[in-house]
Amino acid sequence: MSELPVPRPFLKWAGGKSQLADALLKRRPPHFSAYHEPFMGSGAIFFRLYRERHIRRVVLSDINPELVDTYLAVRDHVAEVISALSEFPHSKEFYYAIRATDPLQLSLPERAARMIYLNKTGYNGLYRVNRRGQFNVPFGRYQSPKYLDRDNLLAVSHALRNVEILCAAFETVVDRAEPGDWVYFDPPYVPVSQTANFTSYYANGFGLQDQERLRDVCITLSRNNVYTMVSNSDTPAVRALYQNFFIDEVLAHRAINCKGAKRGKVAELVITNYAPHQATQPQLLERRVSDLVTS
Ligand SMILES: C[S@@+](CC[C@H](N)C(=O)[O-])C[C@H]1O[C@@H](n2cnc3c(N)ncnc32)[C@H](O)[C@@H]1O
Repeated sequence: MSELPVPRPFLKWAGGKSQLADALLKRRPPHFSAYHEPFMGSGAIFFRLYRERHIRRVVLSDINPELVDTYLAVRDHVAEVISALSEFPHSKEFYYAIRATDPLQLSLPERAARMIYLNKTGYNGLYRVNRRGQFNVPFGRYQSPKYLDRDNLLAVSHALRNVEILCAAFETVVDRAEPGDWVYFDPPYVPVSQTANFTSYYANGFGLQDQERLRDVCITLSRNNVYTMVSNSDTPAVRALYQNFFIDEVLAHRAINCKGAKRGKVAELVITNYAPHQATQPQLLERRVSDLVTS
């Protein structure tokens, strides 16, 4: 397989972590057994980690079934995915025709090819569905989008060959992670706007209660001696939620107004249950967490 390129994320994904990968990986635990990524999206951190070292066990999961099916098809049926994609022309007419097909009527490789095609040719690489769960992103204005990147798909398939891929809510990681494992959580972020911080429902469908449940999952994992890392926005709500954890700031390039027209560097938070850059154990947090949990 030496002729294959280094695998890269094969989907564009909102909140993709490629540009923060170095900063996040610098803060990983010095030693860990299995790696878990329960909000995998485009898997940017997994692919970067794969380049750097051999990890014994990897579990990637996400709640989005179309995304998970796409990973499964690329892992298990990459030749068929490539063959289906190579039949797809780049045109507005074809885009709307394939968008209108019911993915559940397609075979797994065809469903993955549809997802990759819509992701690479649709507006801004967005993933958005209507109330009936139908993908409704309009055609994007790209001259010649590379929706068939054969070599990268082969490299990704190879990288995923021993990876467990699951469609699951993030909490289920508690049942899988063993002492000494590392879990990286990249949830939909708490919105930066002041007013949104004080409501329980966020427009991205991941509300304050979900953020609290995630924090509680990190506490449970800490008690089980599992290393945890969470990324989120630098907001008072996030700092309050994780006051008993180690919090580091990192700078990310992001859209800084609501239309995304103005871009700049904004601080984001990297939250760990171990002291980053030091050879520590996750249970060191126990003392700090005990202040927080009453049960
Ligand atoms: C910010 S994105 C992750 C981006 C990813 N780190 C990357 O590099 O592309 C958040 C992901 O969380 C998933 N998600 C949302 N709610 C979830 C839940 N309750 N459990 C598991 N995954 C969830 C979404 O489908 C989305 O793929």
